[in-house]
Formats: sequence, C-alpha cells, structure tokens
Amino acid sequence: MSELDFYERAKNWDFSHINMYEDCMTDWDYYGELYDHATEESRILDLGTGGGENVLKHFPKAKEIIGTDFSEEMIKTANENLKKYNKENIVFRVMDNLNMDVEPESFDIITARHTIIDAKGIYNALKPNGYLILRGVDKLDCWALKRLFGKGQAYNDPKPISFIDYEDLLDAGFKHVELIPIHMREYYKTKEDLMLLLYKAPILTDFSEVDGMKEVIPNIDESLIDKYITENTTEKGILLIRRYYGIVAQK
Ligand SMILES: C[S@@+](CC[C@H](N)C(=O)[O-])C[C@H]1O[C@@H](n2cnc3c(N)ncnc32)[C@H](O)[C@@H]1O
Repeated sequence: MSELDFYERAKNWDFSHINMYEDCMTDWDYYGELYDHATEESRILDLGTGGGENVLKHFPKAKEIIGTDFSEEMIKTANENLKKYNKENIVFRVMDNLNMDVEPESFDIITARHTIIDAKGIYNALKPNGYLILRGVDKLDCWALKRLFGKGQAYNDPKPISFIDYEDLLDAGFKHVELIPIHMREYYKTKEDLMLLLYKAPILTDFSEVDGMKEVIPNIDESLIDKYITENTTEKGILLIRRYYGIVAQK
C-alpha cells in the first residue's frame, strides 16, 4: 500500500468532527503569512491541497487559486466541496508535487501544508520575487507516542524533514529562506477522539515501512494507547505534543 493509496482511501482531510483543543506556543501563523504576502492580484498554487478544505475556508481573496493533489479521490472531494462555495477564482486539479506540470514563473505564491515538496519545481513555477509559504510536520511530532510504539512518521529518519526542506530550498536558489519551529499542544477530549486522529492521520504510519493493506489502517495496540492516555491525561484533556515547522522562502 503506497502513500497514494492511503490518501485515495482517506478521500478528504477534514478533522472537524474530532473534539480537541489546541494551544500554539509559537507566534507564527501559516495563514497569517499567506494574508501578509497575498494581494487581490495574486496567482496562488496550493500543493497537496487534500479535499480543498483549507483553500476554501482559509485562503485570502486572490485573482486565481489552483489547488492540486496527486490523489484523484481528494480532487473529487475538493470539487464537491467547491460547489458549496460561490468562488469562481478557485480550480482543483490532479498533479504530483514531485512532477509539477505548470507554466514556469507563473505564480506569485505557492503554498504547501503538510505535504511533500520538490524545491526546484517550486522555484521554477514562482515568478521572480515570488514566495513559498510552507508548514510541515517535523520528525519530533508526537514523539512520546511514537517512542512508546517504536514507530511512526519519520521515526527512523536520520535527519529532520525541516532541515531537508530548508537545505533543498537554499540549493534550489531561493534567496531568503526562514525556518521557524512551531510548538503546539493538542488536548483530546476522549480516547475516541484521539483514536479518530490516529486512524486518519499517518502519525503512527511510516510509509517507507508500510507493507500490505492491513498497515494502512495502522495496527494500533490498545494497551499502549491506554498507557499513553494514563501518562498524558491533564485537566484540559489528553495531551499530544505537536512539532511542526514553518518556512517562508522568497525567490
Ligand atoms: C496531510 S494531507 C494535507 C492536506 C492539506 N494540505 C491540509 O493541510 O489539510 C497531505 C496531502 O498531500 C497529498 N500528497 C502527498 N504526496 C503528494 C504528491 N507527491 N503530490 C501531490 N500531492 C501529494 C495527499 O494526497 C494529501 O491530500
């Protein structure tokens, strides 16, 4: 089962049904950066857009927004979601981030939230002085949980993904690249809420190690989850420590 199959089965990237509360300890906001850099004349490309949930709900007014994803099922969902909004400047289509087929130098801003990137492809697609705005999930995300299970996303990566993206962007030719560690605490109301997250997001899944269908619904040992919950229950809920990173890079 490949990463593509995983997202084809997920079909959307909507977590609004999970009862949780988040507390951000870093003064950096992905959408705040997007609003700061976009104008009504901007052409924006959103890579790995999922079911278009964030483009439709959180993106600023712009001349044109193209949301792309390598999963046809995600793009189907995005087009269904688009019908609920009266937004003619937004288009969704299938594209692999690692093989970007867009006009060179045609976007003012490229966004990528929690998805893989090709730094050179992004550099080529941006207009001169254009911006990449990115948020990623870093190696130490949910580390206590991953350590308990001895596995998970990026668990065995020798180098944090944030460093790899940072260096790749510099190598691609970006002139200003800023990398910001993002520290967040999430509090899940019940065990069921935490399980909904773990069954949907690939936190305990390492795609490089996935072998066969059964691993796609990760094999989550309930006794380990119960141990985690016992050790991490606070008065605000079940604590999950998140480690993201933000990048703003100018061409
Ligand atoms: C974790 S979801 C994030 C969705 C959305 N950007 C958000 O922040 O909610 C990752 C998305 O990236 C897409 N994706 C993963 N690898 C990709 C690739 N090589 N090319 C295009 N999309 C990809 C997946 O299909 C999925 O929709």
